[in-house]
Amino acid sequence: MRILVTGGAGFIGSHIADELINRGHEVGIIDNMSHGREENINKEARFYKIDIRDRNIPEVFQEFKPEVLCHQAAQIKVPVSVKDPLLDADINIMGTINLLEACRSCGVKKVIYPASAAIFGNPQYLPIDEDHPLNMISGYGISKHTVEHYLKVYESLYGIKYTVLRYSNVYGPRQDSTGEGGVVAIFSEKFCEGQDVEIFGDGEQTRDFVYVADVAAANVMALWGLDNEIYNVCTGTKISVNDLFRLFKELTGKGVQAKYLSPRAGEIIHSYMTYEKIKKHIGWTPKVDIKEGLRRTLEYYQQ
Ligand SMILES: NC(=O)c1ccc[n+]([C@@H]2O[C@H](COP(=O)([O-])OP(=O)(O)OC[C@H]3O[C@@H](n4cnc5c(N)ncnc54)[C@H](O)[C@@H]3O)[C@@H](O)[C@H]2O)c1
Repeated sequence: MRILVTGGAGFIGSHIADELINRGHEVGIIDNMSHGREENINKEARFYKIDIRDRNIPEVFQEFKPEVLCHQAAQIKVPVSVKDPLLDADINIMGTINLLEACRSCGVKKVIYPASAAIFGNPQYLPIDEDHPLNMISGYGISKHTVEHYLKVYESLYGIKYTVLRYSNVYGPRQDSTGEGGVVAIFSEKFCEGQDVEIFGDGEQTRDFVYVADVAAANVMALWGLDNEIYNVCTGTKISVNDLFRLFKELTGKGVQAKYLSPRAGEIIHSYMTYEKIKKHIGWTPKVDIKEGLRRTLEYYQQ
């Protein structure tokens, strides 16, 4: 299959591109390199350095002729979306519409799109399932969710199929330590350098950390099914920041200390999601447990 991956020089997009190429697919990558890295770009992919908002984007589609668009490129930082909501909406909403228009004019059959746990705000119950009420508390949450509506509309108007995958906190090699859910990347860097880490609040806040290879596998499975539906991609388990810190100590054997700071205003205390729906529909389950995932991540940061 011919698949165009936006954000393919970034963290998750590059793992998806690698996995698609390993499975024999032809991959094109779109990235403006605002947050991507040259070394993440798979050499066997055709690379287009272009912004998703560029009005010439249909030329890329005409040249590469993708059957599927896997759209990972985004403005991913919640604080940026609060400080500059126009920029966030411009990239995440307008940029996506620009791509959808190119899909329409160039006969793309399907779009795979990642949403985020950021659309739920403070959970009303746990674990969060696909029917959990939405409560966006940042521009980022709004922009990620707005695209879900556009996908539905493009499907009903033009028959372009879609799959929305709502990721929990993704971690693994290549993650930027300033990215969304970047605590694992930050801890990895600090532990490798033997520096103390900072923890906001009492460290008992919990998150659902899913390993990037499992996320890439879900994207690949969405090529063949999961049409016109929304699925959580997560582990269904929660781990506290303190437990994460203890695991890092155990894995590295380093005497790094944690410095506790005041809690961040508005931070969600507990969040984890269930993957029962995607498991039932296509058999996806997370394969890499947290200890193994952290071991692989640390190996990357040690290099
Ligand atoms: N990392 C997480 O935990 C997480 C959780 C939920 C959802 N997501 C979603 O997954 C996707 C990938 O996130 P990531 O963590 O890999 O982020 P990332 O920043 O590592 O990758 C995004 C890539 O998109 C590129 N990009 C940004 N703006 C662009 C533009 N205007 N035109 C072209 N390219 C542009 C960047 O250069 C970067 O390479 C995003 O859509 C994000 O919202 C991530």
